[in-house]
Amino acid sequence: VSLRPFNTFGLEVKARLFARFTSVDELRLLLALPEVQQAEKLVLGGGSNLLFTQDFDGVVLKNEIHGLEIVGQDEDSALVRAGAGESWHELVQYTLSQDLNGIENLSLIPGTVGAAPLQNIGAYGAELKDTFDHLEAVEITTGQLRTFSAQECGFGYRESIFKGQLKNQYVVTGVVLRLHRRAQLNVSYGAIQTTLEDMGIGGEPTPRQVSEAVMHIRRSKLPDPTQIGNAGSFFKNPEVSQGKFDELKAQYPDLPGYPVPGGVKVPAGWLIEQCGWKGLRRGAHGVHDKQALVLVNHGGAQGHDIQELAHDIISSVREKFGIELHPEVNIL
Ligand code: EPU
Repeated sequence: VSLRPFNTFGLEVKARLFARFTSVDELRLLLALPEVQQAEKLVLGGGSNLLFTQDFDGVVLKNEIHGLEIVGQDEDSALVRAGAGESWHELVQYTLSQDLNGIENLSLIPGTVGAAPLQNIGAYGAELKDTFDHLEAVEITTGQLRTFSAQECGFGYRESIFKGQLKNQYVVTGVVLRLHRRAQLNVSYGAIQTTLEDMGIGGEPTPRQVSEAVMHIRRSKLPDPTQIGNAGSFFKNPEVSQGKFDELKAQYPDLPGYPVPGGVKVPAGWLIEQCGWKGLRRGAHGVHDKQALVLVNHGGAQGHDIQELAHDIISSVREKFGIELHPEVNIL
């Protein structure tokens, strides 16, 4: 089965076996099949954070569990439950249509609801964990359904327990968020403020206007995966010690940095641009011209070419700045 339609890099790779499931029961039936039990398994949502460097010699299980509903509410908030196979952005739009807010800053992030907790998706000053209540997941070996609280998910910057200790052990089937009835907006991110001003919005914006501002910013910087293959940020933003940051800042006065507990977070996009990679093209693949953190497939590239490019970028950033970049996408 060709996986080309199922990865946003648009890479032409094949899976030995492929199945879709639309409910927890269907997933359990699949997991009980001997050919599935014996095979390596890859659960796929939107395929928007993956780089395939070769064919997948196992079974791809595509999560198509749908459903968006309000499952509880009080005066100030509501619990919204979403099936893991829903599109993340559709969920954002649904919550806005229900006059709920809390995830408008996460508008237009590609991928599915089920993938969102795995890497604690984040953008423009917000992260999934800020509104997360709990999730439901099926254990692959037993087929048992259990819930995970926010604490049990072990969220960090682009991290969760499902990328660490519990990697490949659970399939997320549903996510429940707690959203606000009375607008609690986060417009601290500079670009949101200037975009709202450009949109002619002077006073208090509505959640929908914040969502529109975010969509505008994303469309101007990030390539649309339906037009140009990509998986968003290819690298995580690295953290350095305060001492290391001061040292670099003396040498590169323009170096941006955001204080985090234990050090300073530095934008990888800036480091990569300084090494001369922004907009660079190597045949069918390259570095996006408006955001150096994004690697792109202009059409016909191979996963290992993109991996090699990533490797060369890591080396040059290490050489110039003494900083080690780590991929944010999952490389298979
Ligand atoms: N910058 C450059 N050159 C570039 C790109 C960025 O100098 O080519 C500088 C910018 O000028 C700015 C700083 O880097 O000072 C930060 O840039 P930006 O606001 O674009 O955000 P980012 O740190 O590059 C992160 C996330 C994005 C998220 C944005 C907005 C990571 C790995 N990436 O990027 O997430 O949308 O912040 O909050 O944390 C994703 O994970 O796929 C993703 C797109």
